[in-house]
Amino acid sequence: MMADAAATATSTGPPNSLPKKKLYIETVGCQMNLLDSELVVGRLRGEGYELTDDIEQADTILYNTCSVRQHAEDKIYSALGRVRLLKQRKPEVSVGVLGCMAQKDQGQVLRRAPFVDVVIGPGQLARVPELLAKAKAEGTPQMAVSLPRNAGSRDAVTASFAEYDPLREPLMRPSPFQAFVRIMMGCDKFCTYCIVPAVRGPEQSRPPEAIVEEARALAGQGVKEITLLGQTVNSYKYKSHTSDGRAARLSDLLARLHEIEGIVRIKFLTNFPNDMTDDLLQAVRDLPKVARYLHVPAQSGCDEVLTRMKRTYSVGLYDEMMGRIRATIPEVAVSSDFIVGFCGETEAEFEKSVRLVERSRFKNSFIFKYSARAGTKADALFADDVPEEVKARRNRDLLAVQDAISRADNRPFVGRTVEVLVEGPSKMSARRDGEDFGTGPRQLTGRTTCDRIAVFEGNERLIGQLVPVAIEEVSVVTLFGRVVTTDSAP
Ligand code: 5AD
Ligand code: SF4
Repeated sequence: MMADAAATATSTGPPNSLPKKKLYIETVGCQMNLLDSELVVGRLRGEGYELTDDIEQADTILYNTCSVRQHAEDKIYSALGRVRLLKQRKPEVSVGVLGCMAQKDQGQVLRRAPFVDVVIGPGQLARVPELLAKAKAEGTPQMAVSLPRNAGSRDAVTASFAEYDPLREPLMRPSPFQAFVRIMMGCDKFCTYCIVPAVRGPEQSRPPEAIVEEARALAGQGVKEITLLGQTVNSYKYKSHTSDGRAARLSDLLARLHEIEGIVRIKFLTNFPNDMTDDLLQAVRDLPKVARYLHVPAQSGCDEVLTRMKRTYSVGLYDEMMGRIRATIPEVAVSSDFIVGFCGETEAEFEKSVRLVERSRFKNSFIFKYSARAGTKADALFADDVPEEVKARRNRDLLAVQDAISRADNRPFVGRTVEVLVEGPSKMSARRDGEDFGTGPRQLTGRTTCDRIAVFEGNERLIGQLVPVAIEEVSVVTLFGRVVTTDSAP
Protein backbone atom coordinates (compact mmCIF):
# COMPACT_ATOMS: atom_id res chain seq x y z
CA MET A 1 0.00 0.00 0.00
CA MET A 2 2.82 2.35 0.81
CA ALA A 3 4.51 1.80 -2.53
CA ASP A 4 1.25 2.44 -4.42
CA ALA A 5 0.68 5.73 -2.70
CA ALA A 6 4.23 6.85 -3.44
CA ALA A 7 3.81 5.94 -7.10
CA THR A 8 0.57 7.92 -7.29
CA ALA A 9 2.19 10.97 -5.82
CA THR A 10 5.04 10.99 -8.29
CA SER A 11 3.08 9.98 -11.37
CA THR A 12 0.57 12.81 -10.97
CA GLY A 13 3.27 15.48 -10.82
CA PRO A 14 3.36 18.07 -13.59
CA PRO A 15 5.94 17.91 -16.36
CA ASN A 16 9.24 19.48 -15.34
CA SER A 17 8.77 22.36 -17.72
CA LEU A 18 5.84 23.81 -15.75
CA PRO A 19 6.72 26.57 -13.27
CA LYS A 20 6.81 25.18 -9.74
CA LYS A 21 4.14 26.19 -7.25
CA LYS A 22 5.59 27.79 -4.16
CA LEU A 23 4.69 26.42 -0.74
CA TYR A 24 5.06 28.24 2.58
CA ILE A 25 4.50 26.05 5.64
CA GLU A 26 4.61 26.90 9.34
CA THR A 27 4.61 24.21 11.99
CA VAL A 28 3.84 24.60 15.68
CA GLY A 29 3.84 21.98 18.41
CA CYS A 30 5.64 18.72 18.96
CA GLN A 31 8.05 16.53 17.01
CA MET A 32 5.07 14.57 15.66
CA ASN A 33 3.96 17.75 13.90
CA LEU A 34 7.43 18.39 12.50
CA LEU A 35 7.35 14.89 11.05
CA ASP A 36 3.82 15.36 9.68
CA SER A 37 4.95 18.56 7.96
CA GLU A 38 7.90 16.71 6.45
CA LEU A 39 5.51 14.12 5.03
CA VAL A 40 3.08 16.74 3.69
CA VAL A 41 5.92 18.60 1.98
CA GLY A 42 7.24 15.30 0.60
CA ARG A 43 3.82 14.68 -0.97
CA LEU A 44 3.48 18.18 -2.37
CA ARG A 45 6.97 18.03 -3.88
CA GLY A 46 5.70 15.10 -5.89
CA GLU A 47 2.95 17.40 -7.15
CA GLY A 48 5.40 20.02 -8.37
CA TYR A 49 5.64 22.31 -5.35
CA GLU A 50 8.83 23.85 -4.01
CA LEU A 51 9.41 25.42 -0.60
CA THR A 52 9.72 29.11 0.09
CA ASP A 53 10.55 30.93 3.34
CA ASP A 54 8.81 34.06 2.09
CA ILE A 55 5.06 34.08 2.64
CA GLU A 56 4.70 36.86 0.04
CA GLN A 57 6.10 34.54 -2.65
CA ALA A 58 3.80 31.65 -1.79
CA ASP A 59 1.00 30.20 -3.93
CA THR A 60 0.00 27.97 -1.03
CA ILE A 61 0.22 28.77 2.69
CA LEU A 62 -0.15 25.92 5.19
CA TYR A 63 -0.28 25.96 8.99
CA ASN A 64 0.32 22.66 10.77
CA THR A 65 -1.29 23.33 14.12
CA CYS A 66 -1.24 22.23 17.77
CA SER A 67 -4.08 22.07 20.30
CA VAL A 68 -2.26 21.03 23.46
CA ARG A 69 -2.50 24.51 24.99
CA GLN A 70 -4.66 27.55 24.21
CA HIS A 71 -1.56 29.63 23.48
CA ALA A 72 -0.66 27.42 20.48
CA GLU A 73 -4.14 27.92 19.01
CA ASP A 74 -4.10 31.69 19.62
CA LYS A 75 -0.85 31.89 17.68
CA ILE A 76 -2.42 30.26 14.64
CA TYR A 77 -5.62 32.32 14.72
CA SER A 78 -3.58 35.51 14.88
CA ALA A 79 -1.39 34.30 11.98
CA LEU A 80 -4.63 33.63 10.08
CA GLY A 81 -5.72 37.19 10.84
CA ARG A 82 -2.64 38.42 8.98
CA VAL A 83 -3.18 35.98 6.12
CA ARG A 84 -6.73 37.33 5.67
CA LEU A 85 -5.24 40.62 4.53
CA LEU A 86 -2.80 38.86 2.22
CA LYS A 87 -5.64 36.84 0.73
CA GLN A 88 -7.62 40.05 0.08
CA ARG A 89 -4.71 41.28 -2.02
CA LYS A 90 -4.06 37.89 -3.63
CA PRO A 91 -7.26 35.82 -3.72
CA GLU A 92 -5.56 33.14 -5.85
CA VAL A 93 -3.37 32.04 -2.91
CA SER A 94 -4.52 28.79 -1.22
CA VAL A 95 -4.58 28.66 2.59
CA GLY A 96 -4.70 25.45 4.63
CA VAL A 97 -5.12 24.67 8.33
CA LEU A 98 -3.75 21.20 9.07
CA GLY A 99 -3.21 19.04 12.13
CA CYS A 100 -4.59 18.88 15.64
CA MET A 101 -6.46 22.20 15.71
CA ALA A 102 -8.13 21.33 12.40
CA GLN A 103 -9.35 18.07 13.93
CA LYS A 104 -10.49 19.79 17.13
CA ASP A 105 -12.15 22.90 15.70
CA GLN A 106 -13.29 21.49 12.33
CA GLY A 107 -16.00 23.79 10.86
CA GLN A 108 -15.23 26.41 13.48
CA VAL A 109 -11.95 27.13 11.66
CA LEU A 110 -14.00 28.13 8.61
CA ARG A 111 -16.41 30.19 10.71
CA ARG A 112 -13.52 32.12 12.26
CA ALA A 113 -11.47 32.28 9.04
CA PRO A 114 -13.87 31.85 6.08
CA PHE A 115 -11.11 32.50 3.54
CA VAL A 116 -9.37 29.21 4.47
CA ASP A 117 -9.42 26.70 1.58
CA VAL A 118 -8.67 23.40 3.35
CA VAL A 119 -9.07 22.12 6.92
CA ILE A 120 -7.38 18.73 7.34
CA GLY A 121 -6.91 16.69 10.54
CA PRO A 122 -3.72 14.77 11.39
CA GLY A 123 -5.27 11.45 10.33
CA GLN A 124 -6.13 12.75 6.85
CA LEU A 125 -2.93 14.47 5.78
CA ALA A 126 -2.39 12.16 2.81
CA ARG A 127 -5.29 14.01 1.18
CA VAL A 128 -3.64 17.46 1.26
CA PRO A 129 -2.73 17.59 -2.47
CA GLU A 130 -6.12 16.22 -3.57
CA LEU A 131 -8.10 18.62 -1.39
CA LEU A 132 -6.00 21.67 -2.32
CA ALA A 133 -6.69 20.87 -5.98
CA LYS A 134 -10.40 20.30 -5.31
CA ALA A 135 -10.79 23.54 -3.35
CA LYS A 136 -9.17 25.41 -6.23
CA ALA A 137 -11.22 23.66 -8.93
CA GLU A 138 -14.57 24.00 -7.16
CA GLY A 139 -13.95 27.30 -5.41
CA THR A 140 -15.31 25.92 -2.11
CA PRO A 141 -13.48 25.10 1.12
CA GLN A 142 -12.69 21.44 1.69
CA MET A 143 -12.55 19.69 5.03
CA ALA A 144 -11.22 16.22 5.93
CA VAL A 145 -11.20 15.10 9.54
CA SER A 146 -11.18 11.73 11.27
CA LEU A 147 -14.07 10.22 13.22
CA PRO A 148 -14.58 11.33 16.83
CA ARG A 149 -13.48 8.67 19.35
CA ASN A 150 -17.10 7.78 20.20
CA ALA A 151 -18.43 7.77 16.64
CA GLY A 152 -18.16 4.11 15.81
CA SER A 153 -16.34 0.85 16.48
CA ARG A 154 -12.70 1.09 17.51
CA ASP A 155 -11.69 -0.34 14.13
CA ALA A 156 -13.72 2.25 12.24
CA VAL A 157 -12.31 5.14 14.27
CA THR A 158 -8.77 3.76 13.98
CA ALA A 159 -9.14 3.39 10.22
CA SER A 160 -10.15 7.05 9.95
CA PHE A 161 -6.73 8.00 11.35
CA ALA A 162 -4.95 6.57 8.35
CA GLU A 163 -1.22 6.13 8.22
CA TYR A 164 0.26 7.49 5.06
CA ASP A 165 3.30 6.55 3.09
CA PRO A 166 6.65 7.75 4.36
CA LEU A 167 7.45 9.97 1.40
CA ARG A 168 10.06 12.10 3.08
CA GLU A 169 11.42 15.56 2.48
CA PRO A 170 15.04 15.93 3.61
CA LEU A 171 14.88 19.74 3.59
CA MET A 172 12.27 19.67 6.37
CA ARG A 173 14.43 17.62 8.76
CA PRO A 174 16.18 19.11 11.78
CA SER A 175 19.39 18.51 9.79
CA PRO A 176 20.31 16.31 6.80
CA PHE A 177 21.43 13.51 9.11
CA GLN A 178 18.70 13.63 11.77
CA ALA A 179 15.23 12.23 11.15
CA PHE A 180 12.10 11.34 13.07
CA VAL A 181 10.50 7.94 12.63
CA ARG A 182 6.96 7.40 13.85
CA ILE A 183 6.52 4.04 15.55
CA MET A 184 3.10 4.69 17.07
CA MET A 185 0.16 6.88 16.33
CA GLY A 186 -2.54 8.15 18.71
CA CYS A 187 -2.95 7.63 22.43
CA ASP A 188 -5.30 5.65 24.67
CA LYS A 189 -4.24 7.01 28.06
CA PHE A 190 -6.85 9.77 28.29
CA CYS A 191 -5.08 11.89 30.90
CA THR A 192 -7.90 14.22 31.94
CA TYR A 193 -6.16 17.46 30.87
CA CYS A 194 -5.05 16.23 27.44
CA ILE A 195 -6.64 16.75 24.05
CA VAL A 196 -4.27 14.38 22.20
CA PRO A 197 -6.40 11.18 22.39
CA ALA A 198 -9.28 13.15 20.86
CA VAL A 199 -7.32 14.74 18.01
CA ARG A 200 -4.79 12.02 17.21
CA GLY A 201 -7.10 9.07 17.68
CA PRO A 202 -6.64 5.53 19.02
CA GLU A 203 -3.22 4.11 19.86
CA GLN A 204 -1.76 2.06 16.99
CA SER A 205 1.71 0.59 16.75
CA ARG A 206 3.28 0.30 13.30
CA PRO A 207 4.66 -3.07 12.19
CA PRO A 208 8.36 -3.49 13.04
CA GLU A 209 9.19 -4.31 9.39
CA ALA A 210 7.80 -0.98 8.18
CA ILE A 211 9.80 0.89 10.83
CA VAL A 212 13.05 -0.96 10.11
CA GLU A 213 12.58 -0.49 6.38
CA GLU A 214 11.99 3.24 6.81
CA ALA A 215 15.06 3.59 9.05
CA ARG A 216 17.16 1.68 6.50
CA ALA A 217 16.01 3.97 3.71
CA LEU A 218 16.86 7.01 5.85
CA ALA A 219 20.32 5.59 6.60
CA GLY A 220 20.76 5.15 2.85
CA GLN A 221 20.08 8.89 2.47
CA GLY A 222 22.85 9.73 4.95
CA VAL A 223 20.77 9.95 8.12
CA LYS A 224 22.90 9.18 11.21
CA GLU A 225 20.45 9.78 14.04
CA ILE A 226 16.86 8.62 14.24
CA THR A 227 14.37 9.64 16.91
CA LEU A 228 11.49 7.22 17.32
CA LEU A 229 8.22 8.99 18.03
CA GLY A 230 5.09 7.95 19.89
CA GLN A 231 2.86 9.69 22.45
CA THR A 232 3.72 6.82 24.79
CA VAL A 233 6.61 5.36 22.83
CA ASN A 234 7.54 2.76 25.44
CA SER A 235 4.04 1.27 25.27
CA TYR A 236 4.94 0.12 21.72
CA LYS A 237 3.60 -3.36 21.13
CA TYR A 238 3.15 -5.24 17.88
CA LYS A 239 1.31 -8.54 18.14
CA SER A 240 2.81 -12.02 17.66
CA HIS A 241 5.85 -10.84 15.88
CA THR A 242 8.91 -12.39 17.50
CA SER A 243 10.00 -15.98 16.80
CA ASP A 244 8.56 -17.14 20.14
CA GLY A 245 5.20 -15.66 19.19
CA ARG A 246 5.13 -12.88 21.78
CA ALA A 247 4.45 -9.26 20.88
CA ALA A 248 7.40 -7.16 19.72
CA ARG A 249 8.27 -4.47 22.26
CA LEU A 250 10.30 -1.29 22.02
CA SER A 251 13.37 -3.16 23.28
CA ASP A 252 13.05 -5.64 20.36
CA LEU A 253 12.71 -2.78 17.93
CA LEU A 254 15.78 -1.00 19.32
CA ALA A 255 17.83 -4.18 18.90
CA ARG A 256 16.80 -4.45 15.25
CA LEU A 257 17.37 -0.78 14.48
CA HIS A 258 20.76 -1.00 16.18
CA GLU A 259 21.96 -3.32 13.41
CA ILE A 260 21.40 -0.75 10.66
CA GLU A 261 24.70 0.38 9.23
CA GLY A 262 25.11 4.16 9.08
CA ILE A 263 22.78 4.88 12.01
CA VAL A 264 25.00 5.97 14.90
CA ARG A 265 22.43 7.20 17.40
CA ILE A 266 18.87 6.21 18.28
CA LYS A 267 16.56 8.18 20.58
CA PHE A 268 12.91 7.73 21.50
CA LEU A 269 10.19 10.06 22.81
CA THR A 270 7.91 10.26 24.91
CA ASN A 271 7.83 7.61 27.65
CA PHE A 272 5.00 6.79 30.04
CA PRO A 273 6.16 5.91 33.60
CA ASN A 274 4.08 2.71 33.97
CA ASP A 275 5.60 1.16 30.86
CA MET A 276 9.28 1.72 31.73
CA THR A 277 10.05 -2.00 31.86
CA ASP A 278 13.40 -3.60 32.73
CA ASP A 279 13.89 -5.06 29.23
CA LEU A 280 13.79 -1.50 27.85
CA LEU A 281 16.22 -0.14 30.45
CA GLN A 282 18.58 -3.05 29.72
CA ALA A 283 18.36 -2.36 25.98
CA VAL A 284 19.32 1.29 26.59
CA ARG A 285 22.23 0.09 28.75
CA ASP A 286 23.46 -2.60 26.35
CA LEU A 287 23.01 -1.01 22.91
CA PRO A 288 25.71 1.63 22.47
CA LYS A 289 23.92 3.49 19.68
CA VAL A 290 20.90 4.10 21.91
CA ALA A 291 21.12 7.49 23.62
CA ARG A 292 21.39 7.31 27.41
CA TYR A 293 18.55 9.70 27.70
CA LEU A 294 14.94 9.15 28.74
CA HIS A 295 12.12 11.67 28.62
CA VAL A 296 9.52 10.47 31.14
CA PRO A 297 6.98 13.14 32.09
CA ALA A 298 5.88 13.05 35.74
CA GLN A 299 3.34 15.93 35.35
CA SER A 300 3.01 16.26 39.16
CA GLY A 301 4.70 15.11 42.36
CA CYS A 302 1.44 14.74 44.28
CA ASP A 303 -0.73 11.60 44.32
CA GLU A 304 -4.01 13.49 44.63
CA VAL A 305 -3.17 15.63 41.59
CA LEU A 306 -2.02 12.56 39.62
CA THR A 307 -5.37 10.93 40.43
CA ARG A 308 -7.28 13.99 39.18
CA MET A 309 -5.09 13.89 36.07
CA LYS A 310 -5.82 10.13 35.70
CA ARG A 311 -2.15 9.42 35.16
CA THR A 312 -2.65 5.90 36.61
CA TYR A 313 0.62 5.84 38.60
CA SER A 314 1.58 7.10 42.03
CA VAL A 315 4.53 9.23 43.04
CA GLY A 316 5.87 6.08 44.73
CA LEU A 317 5.87 4.24 41.40
CA TYR A 318 7.63 7.17 39.73
CA ASP A 319 10.31 7.20 42.45
CA GLU A 320 10.74 3.44 42.13
CA MET A 321 11.09 3.81 38.35
CA MET A 322 13.73 6.54 38.76
CA GLY A 323 15.64 4.22 41.10
CA ARG A 324 15.58 1.40 38.54
CA ILE A 325 16.63 3.75 35.72
CA ARG A 326 19.63 5.02 37.69
CA ALA A 327 20.58 1.55 38.94
CA THR A 328 20.44 0.03 35.44
CA ILE A 329 21.91 2.68 33.13
CA PRO A 330 25.16 4.36 34.19
CA GLU A 331 25.30 8.10 33.43
CA VAL A 332 21.75 8.24 32.15
CA ALA A 333 19.99 11.58 31.87
CA VAL A 334 16.27 11.84 32.51
CA SER A 335 14.02 14.75 31.63
CA SER A 336 10.42 15.40 32.57
CA ASP A 337 7.30 17.46 31.93
CA PHE A 338 5.24 19.14 34.65
CA ILE A 339 1.91 20.90 34.59
CA VAL A 340 1.54 23.58 37.27
CA GLY A 341 -1.77 25.06 38.40
CA PHE A 342 -3.85 22.04 37.42
CA CYS A 343 -7.46 22.17 38.67
CA GLY A 344 -7.57 22.42 42.46
CA GLU A 345 -3.76 22.35 42.90
CA THR A 346 -3.04 23.75 46.38
CA GLU A 347 0.26 25.28 47.44
CA ALA A 348 1.06 22.12 49.43
CA GLU A 349 0.32 19.97 46.37
CA PHE A 350 2.54 22.15 44.20
CA GLU A 351 5.34 21.88 46.78
CA LYS A 352 5.30 18.12 46.22
CA SER A 353 6.24 18.71 42.57
CA VAL A 354 9.17 20.82 43.79
CA ARG A 355 10.26 17.93 46.04
CA LEU A 356 10.00 15.45 43.15
CA VAL A 357 12.19 17.64 40.93
CA GLU A 358 14.74 17.90 43.76
CA ARG A 359 14.77 14.13 44.35
CA SER A 360 14.83 13.13 40.70
CA ARG A 361 17.60 15.47 39.53
CA PHE A 362 16.26 15.71 35.99
CA LYS A 363 18.59 16.94 33.27
CA ASN A 364 15.82 19.39 32.43
CA SER A 365 12.08 19.76 32.84
CA PHE A 366 9.52 21.31 30.53
CA ILE A 367 7.06 23.14 32.75
CA PHE A 368 3.62 24.19 31.53
CA LYS A 369 0.83 26.23 33.06
CA TYR A 370 -2.41 24.24 32.93
CA SER A 371 -4.53 25.28 29.97
CA ALA A 372 -8.14 24.06 29.98
CA ARG A 373 -9.06 22.26 26.76
CA ALA A 374 -12.69 21.93 25.68
CA GLY A 375 -13.50 18.29 25.08
CA THR A 376 -11.30 16.91 27.87
CA LYS A 377 -12.47 15.24 31.08
CA ALA A 378 -10.75 17.85 33.27
CA ASP A 379 -12.60 20.64 31.51
CA ALA A 380 -15.91 18.86 32.04
CA LEU A 381 -15.31 17.79 35.65
CA PHE A 382 -13.15 20.38 37.38
CA ALA A 383 -12.94 24.16 37.65
CA ASP A 384 -9.81 25.80 36.22
CA ASP A 385 -9.50 27.53 39.58
CA VAL A 386 -5.81 28.36 40.03
CA PRO A 387 -5.37 32.06 39.16
CA GLU A 388 -3.12 32.86 36.21
CA GLU A 389 -0.61 34.75 38.38
CA VAL A 390 -0.32 31.75 40.73
CA LYS A 391 0.28 29.45 37.75
CA ALA A 392 2.95 31.87 36.48
CA ARG A 393 4.67 32.02 39.88
CA ARG A 394 4.66 28.24 40.30
CA ASN A 395 6.06 27.91 36.80
CA ARG A 396 8.93 30.30 37.64
CA ASP A 397 9.60 28.69 41.01
CA LEU A 398 9.72 25.13 39.67
CA LEU A 399 11.91 26.22 36.77
CA ALA A 400 14.33 27.95 39.16
CA VAL A 401 14.70 24.74 41.19
CA GLN A 402 15.22 22.72 38.01
CA ASP A 403 17.75 25.22 36.59
CA ALA A 404 19.88 25.07 39.74
CA ILE A 405 19.94 21.26 39.46
CA SER A 406 20.72 21.37 35.73
CA ARG A 407 23.67 23.70 36.31
CA ALA A 408 24.99 21.72 39.29
CA ASP A 409 24.77 18.43 37.38
CA ASN A 410 26.51 19.91 34.34
CA ARG A 411 29.47 21.04 36.49
CA PRO A 412 31.14 17.59 36.84
CA PHE A 413 31.49 17.54 33.03
CA VAL A 414 34.24 20.18 33.27
CA GLY A 415 37.52 18.39 32.58
CA ARG A 416 35.82 15.38 30.97
CA THR A 417 35.86 14.40 27.31
CA VAL A 418 32.46 13.50 25.88
CA GLU A 419 31.40 12.09 22.53
CA VAL A 420 29.29 14.61 20.59
CA LEU A 421 27.21 14.09 17.46
CA VAL A 422 27.80 17.38 15.65
CA GLU A 423 24.51 18.90 14.46
CA GLY A 424 25.57 22.15 12.76
CA PRO A 425 26.61 25.74 13.32
CA SER A 426 25.54 27.01 16.74
CA LYS A 427 22.84 29.69 16.78
CA MET A 428 25.43 32.25 17.78
CA SER A 429 27.47 31.75 14.63
CA ALA A 430 24.37 31.20 12.48
CA ARG A 431 23.38 34.76 13.39
CA ARG A 432 26.74 35.91 12.13
CA ASP A 433 26.15 34.32 8.72
CA GLY A 434 26.33 36.88 5.99
CA GLU A 435 28.96 38.83 7.83
CA ASP A 436 32.57 38.24 6.99
CA PHE A 437 33.03 35.19 9.13
CA GLY A 438 36.20 34.02 7.40
CA THR A 439 37.03 30.44 6.52
CA GLY A 440 38.51 29.36 9.85
CA PRO A 441 36.86 27.30 12.56
CA ARG A 442 33.38 28.31 13.62
CA GLN A 443 31.12 27.60 16.55
CA LEU A 444 29.42 24.25 16.17
CA THR A 445 26.78 22.59 18.27
CA GLY A 446 25.85 18.99 18.93
CA ARG A 447 24.62 16.63 21.62
CA THR A 448 26.13 14.04 23.90
CA THR A 449 24.60 10.58 24.24
CA CYS A 450 22.82 11.89 27.36
CA ASP A 451 21.26 14.68 25.24
CA ARG A 452 23.31 17.53 26.66
CA ILE A 453 24.03 20.37 24.26
CA ALA A 454 27.73 20.98 23.56
CA VAL A 455 29.16 24.07 21.83
CA PHE A 456 32.74 24.18 20.51
CA GLU A 457 34.85 25.55 17.69
CA GLY A 458 35.39 23.30 14.73
CA ASN A 459 35.44 22.94 10.98
CA GLU A 460 32.09 22.49 9.25
CA ARG A 461 33.19 19.16 7.84
CA LEU A 462 32.68 17.73 11.34
CA ILE A 463 28.91 18.17 10.93
CA GLY A 464 27.26 14.76 11.08
CA GLN A 465 30.27 13.13 12.80
CA LEU A 466 30.76 11.77 16.29
CA VAL A 467 33.66 13.73 17.77
CA PRO A 468 35.35 13.80 21.20
CA VAL A 469 34.96 17.17 22.91
CA ALA A 470 36.86 18.18 26.06
CA ILE A 471 34.52 20.23 28.26
CA GLU A 472 35.94 23.42 29.78
CA GLU A 473 32.90 25.37 30.99
CA VAL A 474 29.19 24.79 31.58
CA SER A 475 25.95 26.73 31.91
CA VAL A 476 22.40 25.61 32.77
CA VAL A 477 21.81 24.07 29.34
CA THR A 478 25.18 23.98 27.58
CA LEU A 479 28.61 22.34 27.85
CA PHE A 480 31.37 24.44 26.23
CA GLY A 481 34.57 22.77 25.09
CA ARG A 482 37.06 22.04 22.33
CA VAL A 483 37.45 19.15 19.92
CA VAL A 484 40.11 16.66 20.97
CA THR A 485 42.30 15.99 17.97
CA THR A 486 43.65 12.51 17.47
CA ASP A 487 46.80 13.50 15.55
CA SER A 488 48.95 11.58 17.99
CA ALA A 489 47.09 8.31 17.34
CA PRO A 490 49.25 5.62 15.71
N1 5AD B 1 -2.24 22.24 29.69
C1 5AD B 1 -0.93 22.40 29.93
N2 5AD B 1 -0.01 21.50 29.56
C2 5AD B 1 -0.43 20.40 28.92
N3 5AD B 1 0.25 19.34 28.45
C3 5AD B 1 -0.63 18.50 27.87
N4 5AD B 1 -1.88 18.98 27.98
C4 5AD B 1 -1.78 20.17 28.64
C5 5AD B 1 -2.72 21.15 29.06
N5 5AD B 1 -4.03 21.00 28.85
C6 5AD B 1 1.69 19.19 28.61
C7 5AD B 1 2.06 17.90 29.32
C8 5AD B 1 2.63 17.06 28.21
C9 5AD B 1 3.24 18.11 27.32
C10 5AD B 1 3.52 17.68 25.92
O1 5AD B 1 2.29 19.14 27.33
O2 5AD B 1 3.07 18.19 30.28
O3 5AD B 1 3.59 16.12 28.66
FE1 SF4 C 1 -1.83 13.16 26.49
FE2 SF4 C 1 -1.54 11.49 28.57
FE3 SF4 C 1 -1.58 10.52 26.03
FE4 SF4 C 1 0.54 11.92 26.89
S1 SF4 C 1 -0.16 9.94 27.72
S2 SF4 C 1 -0.55 12.17 24.91
S3 SF4 C 1 -0.41 13.43 28.25
S4 SF4 C 1 -3.28 11.53 27.11
